[in-house]
Amino acid sequence: MFDPGKSLNIGIPEIDEAHEKLDRLAKKVERSIIANVSVAETRKHFLTFISATETHFENEKRVFSQYGLPGMNAHRAEHKSIIQLLTEAESSISETNDAWRKTLMDLMDILTRHIVTFDFEVKTHRGVKH
Ligand SMILES: [Fe+2]
Ligand SMILES: [Fe+2]
Repeated sequence: MFDPGKSLNIGIPEIDEAHEKLDRLAKKVERSIIANVSVAETRKHFLTFISATETHFENEKRVFSQYGLPGMNAHRAEHKSIIQLLTEAESSISETNDAWRKTLMDLMDILTRHIVTFDFEVKTHRGVKH
């Protein structure tokens, strides 16, 4: 998903560490799809990724609210739609139809896009303030 700890750091350790953890979990999902492991095992990794993403979004809400950030509603709306996409993808996982593999591969970099568009607003905002 991304090069851990490098260009995607926003400078808040708790958030950066969570992003790196999500990156590791996303890579596990990608690897299990590429290696064609069992559907059950891939689903297990994907569920772990979804659950860690949900926890991370809750933490972000708490941490980012300290910075009086404008546009937090749009940010939260994007979190919600990401969880919805992940949940829909999870329910499309099937033993008999392989289409979900491509869906999951396409989704695995969704958080990278989210970080550079939304989470980076916090970095910019803090940069202006301090
Ligand atoms: Fe984030
Ligand atoms: Fe976020």
